[in-house]
Amino acid sequence: MDATVAQEFLEALGRNALAVEAFLRKALDNRPAAGDIMRPARLMQATRHGVLNGGKRFRPFLVMESAALFEAEGNAALSVAASLECVHCYSLIHDDLPAMDNDDLRRGQPTVHKAFDVATAILAGDSLLTFAFSLLADKEMELPSAARIELVGGLAAAAGMGGMAGGQALDLQAEISPPDEAGIITLQAMKTGALIRFACEAGAIIAGAGTEDRERLSAFGSAIGLAFQLADDLLDLEADAETLGKATGKDAARGKATLAALHGADWAREQLDGLVGQAREILEPYGERARLLRQAADFVANRRN
Ligand code: IPE
Ligand code: IPE
Ligand code: MG
Ligand code: MG
Ligand code: MG
Repeated sequence: MDATVAQEFLEALGRNALAVEAFLRKALDNRPAAGDIMRPARLMQATRHGVLNGGKRFRPFLVMESAALFEAEGNAALSVAASLECVHCYSLIHDDLPAMDNDDLRRGQPTVHKAFDVATAILAGDSLLTFAFSLLADKEMELPSAARIELVGGLAAAAGMGGMAGGQALDLQAEISPPDEAGIITLQAMKTGALIRFACEAGAIIAGAGTEDRERLSAFGSAIGLAFQLADDLLDLEADAETLGKATGKDAARGKATLAALHGADWAREQLDGLVGQAREILEPYGERARLLRQAADFVANRRN
């Protein structure tokens, strides 16, 4: 790990990942099957494989830290963090499918469609997406209805046609007809940026923060969201599969539209530094309170996996 990422951040990220995983494990194990007739064992196993297989749990970290920044009370942040992670894991399961990126390795393990089969992977993704919304509807989550409804709407928008799913469609289209720089930025802001931006804004919604704070967190999320995909593209170009836990060199092989492919790695790295600087600046008004979130921006640029 690069020396510019604070140890304090890495420890906090690790601690948070454990808390989110424990929550998800319990939720997947114990969730009463209100309305469920049964849970098919193979689908359940595939779903667990897709969500409990490691991962940095970076988006949940952003939810928890933005909630902490505005001193949110109660247990809602952890539920929302876990809910968002379910949507992210679903997006990865589907992203890896043969009809999409056709990848065999994810988080250092076989992808869900490799470990199980394509149909089960599609259904595991579907199950996780709906599970995410059932977590937001859970009565045990302590949150006023108005905030809950905003989160449901916000997550749906970030995951859907105008967000992740739409961005994934543009990403596939771009393999056939390469977009220009603005087109690449739009598709990346949608496929990756939307969920990261939601993560940052969600904490502010949970805490009942005002419009200005929400907009600030949303702008921070947009900047690190773009940076996150830029870094992912650079890692695909330069990292090794063992460290990364997924195959490398796949973007070039598939003719993916990335800024690194369009302008070269050096240019992409400069852009990345610019975005991280921008993100750090957005949090300036919060001073020391936003220290971990600023460190999160550094992590985006310097991560090795
Ligand atoms: C990978 O996301 C997919 C992208 C949006 C680039 P992460 O790098 O957060 O993957 P995990 O969750 O840590 O495995
Ligand atoms: C994926 O982008 C973004 C998603 C919405 C899942 P990539 O296709 O580059 O992600 P990796 O490299 O497979 O993790
Ligand atoms: Mg993809
Ligand atoms: Mg992929
Ligand atoms: Mg990638």
